[in-house]
Amino acid sequence: MIARTSGPKISITGLGCHVPERVLSNDDLAGLVDTNDEWIVSRTGIRERRIAAEDEALTDICLPAARRALEMASVDPATIDLLIVATVTPDMAFPSSSALLADMLGMPDAAAYDLSAGCTGFVYAIAQAHGMLAAGLAKRALVIGGDVLSKILDWTDRSTLVLFGDGAGAVVMERVEQGGFLGFELGADGAGGLNLWLPGSGSRTFEDPEKFVKMNGREVFKFATRVMVSSAEAILTECGRTVDDIDVYVPHQANVRIIDHAAKKLGFPEEKTIVNVHKYGNTSSGSIPLALADAADDGRLAPGKLVLLTGMGAGLTWGSALIEWTHETTGAAA
Ligand code: ACO
Repeated sequence: MIARTSGPKISITGLGCHVPERVLSNDDLAGLVDTNDEWIVSRTGIRERRIAAEDEALTDICLPAARRALEMASVDPATIDLLIVATVTPDMAFPSSSALLADMLGMPDAAAYDLSAGCTGFVYAIAQAHGMLAAGLAKRALVIGGDVLSKILDWTDRSTLVLFGDGAGAVVMERVEQGGFLGFELGADGAGGLNLWLPGSGSRTFEDPEKFVKMNGREVFKFATRVMVSSAEAILTECGRTVDDIDVYVPHQANVRIIDHAAKKLGFPEEKTIVNVHKYGNTSSGSIPLALADAADDGRLAPGKLVLLTGMGAGLTWGSALIEWTHETTGAAA
C-alpha cells in the first residue's frame, strides 16, 4: 500500500515514552549466556537495554507513555475516540491491551484494539489512525507502540537474547492547520514470515513446546537492509520529495549495522540519522516513538522539520511515513 495523503491535515500533537527501570548491560548478559560486550557492540551497536520486572506487563509500560503524550497535547483523555496499541506482547490475547488501557486512561468513547505488525506495528498504527481521522470516523486518536519482548525470549539463546529490550511510546494524533502526514508506504511478505516467529503463540499446534522468539538472523538482516532502503525510496518518490528534503531520518532501531547501511545507501548524513539502539536495544513497536522522543529532546526534531520514519519487522513487514512535524515535543523522552 502506498499513498500520498489527501483531505484534512493530520499530525502528531503529543508524544510520550516510557521504559522499565531495570538496566541490563552486555556484561550482565555475559553472565547468563556465552557472549561478550565486544561481540554485541561490534555486531549490533547495543550496549544496554531496559528489562521489565517480573510483575510488569505491557500496559504498565504503556500507561505512563500515554499519560505523557496526552499531557503534552493538552488533551482530556475522555475526548479520545480511537485507541490503537501496536504490539506483539499484549498483557494477554484478550481482552486487548488497548481496551484495558482505554479504561485505565478514562476513554469511555474510544474504539480500542491491538494491532500486530511486528516491529513495524507503530508505523502501521499511525497510518491506520490517519485513515480513520481523515475519513472523519474518529476525531482524536491515541496511538501506542510498545513491547516487552523480554517476556517471550529464550533466556538461554544468545542469538536472540542480546538484541531486544522493553519500552513504549505514545502519540496523540488529530487535525491541524498546517503540515502533518504527507504519505505512507506499508508492505508485508508472509513468505519470509518464518524467519522471525513465535511458535505456539496462537491456534496452530507445534511439536516444540518452547514458546520463544525464533529468528534466522542472517535472513532477517538481508530483508531489513533491502526494505529499509526500498520503502524509504518509495515514499519519497510518491510524495515528490528527495533525501535532501528530509531533516530527520528515524529508522527502526534493530541493529546499528542495518541503520548505517540504510543511511549510507539512501544518502543520509550522520547528523540527520537518529540512533539510540545502544541504550535500548530493539524495543520492537516502541522503537520509533522512543527515537522520535530522543530526537526532540536533543534539539533535532522541531516544528517545520520534514521527518522520515521507516520500520521493518516480523511478518515480515515494513513501512514508512513522511511527516512535516508541527508541534513542540521536547520532554517526551523516556
Ligand atoms: N555472542 C557471541 N557470539 C554469538 C552471539 C552472541 N550473542 N550470537 C551469535 N554468535 C556467534 C554465532 O554462533 C556465530 O558463530 P559461528 O561462526 O561459530 O557459527 C557467529 O557469532 C556469527 O553469527 P552470525 O549469525 O553470522 O552473526 P551476524 O554478524 O549475522 O550477526 C545478528 C547476527 C546480529 C543477529 C544479525 O544477523 C542481525 O542483526 N540480524 C537482524 C536481526 C533483527 O534485526 N531482528 C529484529 C527484526 S525486527 C522485529 O520484528 C523483532
